[in-house]
Amino acid sequence: MKKIKVAVVGTGFIGPAHIEALRRLPNIEVLGLCEANIDLAREKADALGIERAYIFEDLLLDSEIECVHICTPNFLHYSQSKAVLLAGKHVVCEKPLATKIEDAEELVKLAAETGLVNAVHFNLRYYPLVRQMRTMREKGDLGEIYSIMGSYLQDWLFYQTDYNWRLEPDKSGDSRAIADIGSHLLDVTEYITGMKITEVMADFNTVHKTRLKPLKAIETYSGKMLEPSDYQEVPINTEDHASVLLRFDNGAKGSVTVSQVSAGRKNRLNLEISGSVANFEWCSEKPNEMWVGKRETANQQLMKDPSLFYPEAQSLVSFPGGHNEGFPDTSKQLFKEVYAAVVAGKQPENPTYPTFADGLRELLICERIIESHRKQAWVTV
Ligand SMILES: NC(=O)c1ccc[n+]([C@@H]2O[C@H](COP(=O)([O-])OP(=O)(O)OC[C@H]3O[C@@H](n4cnc5c(N)ncnc54)[C@H](O)[C@@H]3O)[C@@H](O)[C@H]2O)c1
Repeated sequence: MKKIKVAVVGTGFIGPAHIEALRRLPNIEVLGLCEANIDLAREKADALGIERAYIFEDLLLDSEIECVHICTPNFLHYSQSKAVLLAGKHVVCEKPLATKIEDAEELVKLAAETGLVNAVHFNLRYYPLVRQMRTMREKGDLGEIYSIMGSYLQDWLFYQTDYNWRLEPDKSGDSRAIADIGSHLLDVTEYITGMKITEVMADFNTVHKTRLKPLKAIETYSGKMLEPSDYQEVPINTEDHASVLLRFDNGAKGSVTVSQVSAGRKNRLNLEISGSVANFEWCSEKPNEMWVGKRETANQQLMKDPSLFYPEAQSLVSFPGGHNEGFPDTSKQLFKEVYAAVVAGKQPENPTYPTFADGLRELLICERIIESHRKQAWVTV
């Protein structure tokens, strides 16, 4: 079997998750790793058992690499994705696709011109029950959708001493909670319901107006062991918490709340969709079960079990019922679909996976949400 040679750029938190997921696919070899400097790249490559270590410019020159995964801080996604496409390689980019709409538009255009495979890692779509909910909605099991209620809550920025590059707009963009986790929630909402968000009304809150920035660099989720003298107080101007009212193209209405300062909520996306036939509820912290609310009969609890799923959702299930699948499996399932396109050599007409166009869409919604908060008014998407 010919192995597709892949390189991963950025190996903090999510880069190694990409590497692990790629290694679970039989036709892929993670041949190269790229980091901010060559010493770090060599160290990480050795630790992760990867042959080639590069800085970004040298990775582009390696003609054996066919596809590159961009797992760096947000402000690098545009320039690195563009350079990868111009080097004639397929690209899988982390969300958000860029920090500015114009940059994302340019990437969508460039990707279309090259015909190369382009994907954005909206991996939450790949929980088996998310696709099952989408399929159930398509088959009429939900009925006409009346309303949406969503939340995405975390606590890793709960304390004033919690710090990360995501708190700095020049690295992360003008929005934080909405761009970082709201983007997943809004993407999954449109994906499951098939509806488009048409108008937004947002209200943000920055709970910690200043934070204590560590004087030495740290990676995501690893900053819990520093001393008080290791910090400097800095102003914060992106949101810890946001509430957004939503209007959809079919007349349905809804709301989402996102927060990175909700104690005890580690990484909890919860979505409730109310329709004329049933009510669906699903939570990412218990991803192998969903609740189906009924008026006329008893409510149901559906467990992830391929024998109980529609065929359209069965392809995302690798293990029988009762054998739980979770976050690492979502990337594997997404990459399975992306690499079927890489094998074919080009972006398909109607990709089943999230593309640069989906990345642009999320950026657009996110920008309108920021605008709405600034104006304290409804804004059309
Ligand atoms: N889809 C998801 O579920 C998910 C989860 C976490 C993060 N993300 C996204 O992944 C991206 C990275 O997040 P993270 O949490 O892994 O961040 P991180 O800070 O833990 O890791 C970033 C890595 O990029 C490296 N890097 C920085 N500059 C570089 C350069 N010029 N060239 C090469 N490498 C460089 C850093 O050294 C670090 O290893 C973000 O855009 C984030 O939004 C997505």
